[in-house]
Amino acid sequence: MTTWHGLIDSPYRRWLPVTDETPSISLNEGNTPLLRSAHLSGLTGCEVWLKVEGANPTGSFKDRGMTVAISRAAEAGAQAVICASTGNTSASAAAYAARAGLTAAVLVPRGGVPLGKLSQSVRYGAEIIEIDGTFDDCLRVARELAAHHPIALVNSVNNELRLAGQRTVAYEIVDALGRAPDVHCLPVGNGGNITAVWGGYREYHEAGLSDTLPRLWGFQAAGAAPFVHGGPIAAPVTAATAINIGHPATWDGAIAARDESGGLIGAVSDEQIFAAYRMLARRDGVFAEPASAAGVAGLLDRHAKGELEPGLRVVITLSGNGLKDLDASMRDGYTPTETSSATADVARALRLAA
Ligand code: F0G
Repeated sequence: MTTWHGLIDSPYRRWLPVTDETPSISLNEGNTPLLRSAHLSGLTGCEVWLKVEGANPTGSFKDRGMTVAISRAAEAGAQAVICASTGNTSASAAAYAARAGLTAAVLVPRGGVPLGKLSQSVRYGAEIIEIDGTFDDCLRVARELAAHHPIALVNSVNNELRLAGQRTVAYEIVDALGRAPDVHCLPVGNGGNITAVWGGYREYHEAGLSDTLPRLWGFQAAGAAPFVHGGPIAAPVTAATAINIGHPATWDGAIAARDESGGLIGAVSDEQIFAAYRMLARRDGVFAEPASAAGVAGLLDRHAKGELEPGLRVVITLSGNGLKDLDASMRDGYTPTETSSATADVARALRLAA
């Protein structure tokens, strides 16, 4: 049994853009659970696996890229880093910056980030700027500031370091399954992750470590689906806040991932996303954040439309942890049964026989 020390010090180090000079700024990210879903397998007639990225140290897949980006920023002598975010990139940047002794500035859309994510950035000591605008406005400002001031941009746009780190999820999946899945489903927002995941599978394939390549099926929220519409959207709307993005930065990469893999980028409604979100927790015991359920919603949508061949081996990325967005969770209403501390009262409330 080998001990896991985070991605930079893992067997995947050789794939990462680091050298002996690069410090390892790590929180032991990666090596996340890959769980077989009996429920989704039964529903679809496929063999469905869940890659639980919410198990990463700050609760999302962003940690895979951030360990590389912040380690390299520290190596380059950066004093400060900046990012735009719907909440997960900022939480991750703030945590890794804290660990490296750097200042983190995070730009977030006001009212567009759940409290759990915001409080991560608060606790990690980031400078938080709430912008009166969308994520896309935040990213534009972050890019302009990084271009003109001594502050390193750690968004995945033009940041091969982030994407290189995020590729590692594909290596882990192939190593765990012994081959690539037939289909990999995942939520799509800014387009970075689908680009990275495809890059990871391709690298492994080219190196002879997997015989096949998966089709990538990306899913956006219907109210924020620029890839499905074929162009930017000025006012994206979805309750899956993590992917509420109208003007994706990694456009070409996401399109290439879709087309080269013979895959697709589709849209699912918020209703479908939240139904999948509830089902995952209730049936698989995995509490993923709403955006993370988009891949599950998409798979079920394809199945319902008769567009899913049975027997496929499918991996679904569950990109972030449900604990980050408790408002979303409690929105359905929560009505606890209150009782006295008498055992008989509790027994009655639980409808247990006397
Ligand atoms: N799932 C979650 C939980 C996310 O936080 C994001 C993106 C995505 C999926 C989509 O990934 O943008 O690479 O296509 N979150 C970014 C952020 C925008 O700021 O945390 P993508």
